[in-house]
Amino acid sequence: MKNIIRIVLIFGFSKALLLGQGILSADIEQKVDVLLSQMTFAEKIGQMTQFSGINEDYEALVRKGQIGSFLNVIGAEETNRIQKIAVEESRLGIPLVIGLDVIHGYRTIFPIPLAASASWDTVLIRKAAEIAAKEAASAGIHWTFAPMVDIARDARWGRIAEGAGEDPFLGAAVARAQVLGFQGEDLSDPLTLLACAKHYVGYGAAEGGRDYNTVDVSERTLREIYLPPFKAAVDAGVGTLMSAFNEIGGVPTSANQFTLRTILKGEWGFNGFVVSDWNSIGELVAHGIAKDRLEAGVKGLTAGIDMDMEGRCYTSDMEALVADEILSEELINDAVRRILRIKFYLGLFEHPYIDENIQKELILHRDHIQTALDLARESIVLLKNEKSVLPLNRKKLNSIALIGPLANDKDSPLGTWRCQGRQEDVVTVYEGLKNKFGDDVKIIYVKGCDVKNNSCSGFDKAIKAVQKADVVVMVMGESADMSGEAASRADLNLPGVQAELINAIAETNKPIVLVLMNGRPITLSNIESKVSAIVEAWQLGIQHGNAVADVLVGDVNPSGKLTATFPRTVGQIPIHYNHKNSGRPNISLDKFTSKYIDLPSSPLYPFGYGLSYTEFKYTGIEVENNRLAPSDELVVNINVKNAGSCDGVEIVQFYIRDLVGSVTRPVKELKGFQRVSLKAGELKTVQFRIPVRNLGAYDLDMNYTVEPGEFSIMVGGNSIDGLTTTVEVVRLK
Ligand code: NOJ
Repeated sequence: MKNIIRIVLIFGFSKALLLGQGILSADIEQKVDVLLSQMTFAEKIGQMTQFSGINEDYEALVRKGQIGSFLNVIGAEETNRIQKIAVEESRLGIPLVIGLDVIHGYRTIFPIPLAASASWDTVLIRKAAEIAAKEAASAGIHWTFAPMVDIARDARWGRIAEGAGEDPFLGAAVARAQVLGFQGEDLSDPLTLLACAKHYVGYGAAEGGRDYNTVDVSERTLREIYLPPFKAAVDAGVGTLMSAFNEIGGVPTSANQFTLRTILKGEWGFNGFVVSDWNSIGELVAHGIAKDRLEAGVKGLTAGIDMDMEGRCYTSDMEALVADEILSEELINDAVRRILRIKFYLGLFEHPYIDENIQKELILHRDHIQTALDLARESIVLLKNEKSVLPLNRKKLNSIALIGPLANDKDSPLGTWRCQGRQEDVVTVYEGLKNKFGDDVKIIYVKGCDVKNNSCSGFDKAIKAVQKADVVVMVMGESADMSGEAASRADLNLPGVQAELINAIAETNKPIVLVLMNGRPITLSNIESKVSAIVEAWQLGIQHGNAVADVLVGDVNPSGKLTATFPRTVGQIPIHYNHKNSGRPNISLDKFTSKYIDLPSSPLYPFGYGLSYTEFKYTGIEVENNRLAPSDELVVNINVKNAGSCDGVEIVQFYIRDLVGSVTRPVKELKGFQRVSLKAGELKTVQFRIPVRNLGAYDLDMNYTVEPGEFSIMVGGNSIDGLTTTVEVVRLK
């Protein structure tokens, strides 16, 4: 049922969810039509315009009903003040919708999204989004420019930090959780936020990993890899999408009728609205497909962008184009209708203001901080643990040498897009260890070097501290400004002289525990053999140090698993687990196979990888029915045993491979996962029930189909190791 708008009377349902199913409310549609019929051309264009910040000129425009939205206006008092002008002083009293980048928390800052995705815990991710929404909404924000659901297969791209990594299935699950978390059951609840799935689409495939750069992906790759998280967001009822900065094969996504009109508003029946990215319509001029802003505006609008963020391309000059029949007024009416519809869903007409007292109770609420700690703990990934150097043996420990530029840094844990996060709220690793040990263990902290500069003058002091201590913990990585927007890197080694400092300290022969803080996968081949343990701690938000300390001493058994591949070297990029086999897979020593002559093709740490302080053993994979029709459910059971001596959580992953099809298929595709808690010694049978429909692919005509034939199945603790079996899909008679 394509592109058919169903209008019903809605009682007691989640309106946002129904919106995701293409079902509209008759009552709201009627109100939108009445309002639209009263609007002048300038007022319509106004609704389609979003500006950043407030000044007197903007206030005057609000009074005239010529601005529909702001971003970067913060605080309940300020948002209420400007809203009052819109509601009480403009001719039609249409409320403003106020947006902000609330990405991983408002004031209570959670782990950066890439880190949070490593928890594979969609329940907790949803809860974090719900808290972020509550805090931001209490400060007068209605709309967040999140979740970022861009798939990223290139760690050079700084914005990999903002998403859920490289996999479309996991990306879709996280997108759904975030949308439901931000928007809640009912968007008109004043403590929810309108969500915005961004950046539509393909932004993560920027050539060379350079931000804003050209993208050229096939329709197949778009549909298989980049679109699924957006589709999941739409199905979950997301009210808005943001178009991206990049082009795809010659057509900028902010002027792309195929992705915006044909797929999003056509095939998917999306009834919310699309906002451009910051001046991305204006940038159509630099892209070279529009001669000026007016032409850019026409292209953006025609493609399906309903609101122009800071582009000044949707202007009253368009009226003449409508008069000359160059532009259809119906396009403008459709855009305004969508924006008004969402404003009604938000309940802004009934309650345009926020109670200015709520924020005091909500911001940094005790429960919010606890959730930030819970998610931080689950986001940590243990990458290496030679001779079980971790957890630190508390009983035998008298002193720790804590070395590294990030060990007591209050800024980096906040990561990119820290919204209203403050350094004063942050617990560093140094503070976390102090909180943990009090005076029982001496912590000798020496910075040793900076993140970025090349001075080695602090090395001697660091080495002396190490010589006096039982254990060495080094906290190193990237500062917060080294990932996120406009922060692509060409070299992914530890920046500055951090690797040199590790080498210098390794000479002391003391076992080194390396705690990494970074916003992307980094390359570790040059130091990996020098350290005994590697704890990937990303940028974990305000509870960073407490979570790291919990893991170091074993109060928390690490359970995170990588959601983006760690390459051996930057030359392997793009590298991702779900690659194609090629005609010459590198399975023999044959020279003429797809490989590098100077390095293995395999990554240092694969997708889905992460260690635990215990050991999980997989046995007895069993398929309930290995001949299946496309309408069946595939049921696979597997035994997972905690064979170690401490309790733990295992993220059990389910992969498939379609062995022969009409088009080539990836060597592995994630189709399911479960977080399973196991007490020491405990065995559980884990069951996956996967609709066979989900095993399909786009055929030569780009129709999604499950083709008959054999599929191999692998279930395990990462994308490389697991138990395998096969099933056959048969055609229905
Ligand atoms: C540009 C970024 O690309 C986008 O993610 C963000 O939401 C907007 N600026 C607004 O700040």
